[in-house]
Amino acid sequence: MSEIRDKLFSKKTDLVGFTFDAKVSEIFDDMVRRSVPGYQNMLEMVGLLVQIYGQKNTNYYDLGASTGAVCLALGLNNPHPDSRIIGVDNSVAMVEKCRQNLHGKITNFEIICADINNINFENATIIVLNLTLQFVPVAQRQALIDHIYQGLQPGGALLITEKIHFDDVKMQKQMTKLHLDFKRANGYSELEIAAKRQSIENVLITDNQKTHIKRLENAGFSQNFCHFQCLNFASFLSVK
Ligand SMILES: C[S@@+](CC[C@H](N)C(=O)[O-])C[C@H]1O[C@@H](n2cnc3c(N)ncnc32)[C@H](O)[C@@H]1O
Repeated sequence: MSEIRDKLFSKKTDLVGFTFDAKVSEIFDDMVRRSVPGYQNMLEMVGLLVQIYGQKNTNYYDLGASTGAVCLALGLNNPHPDSRIIGVDNSVAMVEKCRQNLHGKITNFEIICADINNINFENATIIVLNLTLQFVPVAQRQALIDHIYQGLQPGGALLITEKIHFDDVKMQKQMTKLHLDFKRANGYSELEIAAKRQSIENVLITDNQKTHIKRLENAGFSQNFCHFQCLNFASFLSVK
């Protein structure tokens, strides 16, 4: 995918709440790679896990598909060509970008512009929430995970990656510092870091690891564990 450099917060402007609009869709690939430690590994894990938990003639859902990186990881590693990849995003700009990015690279997929809270999951063996649950209002998260559990076939897997927070104050402070250092090392200025933080503050709401696991258990998943963590970003695997 061609990447346009993220300069969204490089100039002093009136800050508004972060939205996944056309401007963000243009620079998203660069933004996510320079802001999320371990992003490439997360995608590689999706590619590995679809080979283990994907089943023939079923559906794989990518919820909050953005520009299509997870759909691509699913499509390029899918051992079952008769299984269908369904990407969902409620941003029109992201959906357009996603369709463009995937065109000619994978087959047997569709990208739907919809709210992930209103999807009827059918015959699913893989459902991915990569950095998306954190944007769903906290009060709606359990209902969404319950709904996902009901839509999965036995043996199917839910793959969640999220920014998380830590109850231990020292650890939270240190992880936040390291994450900011990661962004600095990737070329973001202090102004850009502060402005993005302010913009996204009330939009991206983190949970801690315990809350994630409890929610997954409440839904009925019997096997839940964190299989990958890089600083304050964690990936969870739940099998039905
Ligand atoms: C951080 S991005 C996800 C990144 C992407 N999964 C990846 O790995 O590259 C979050 C995406 O979720 C979408 N989103 C947030 N809330 C949503 C909702 N309720 N329904 C559908 N899409 C949603 C946003 O439009 C955005 O594209």
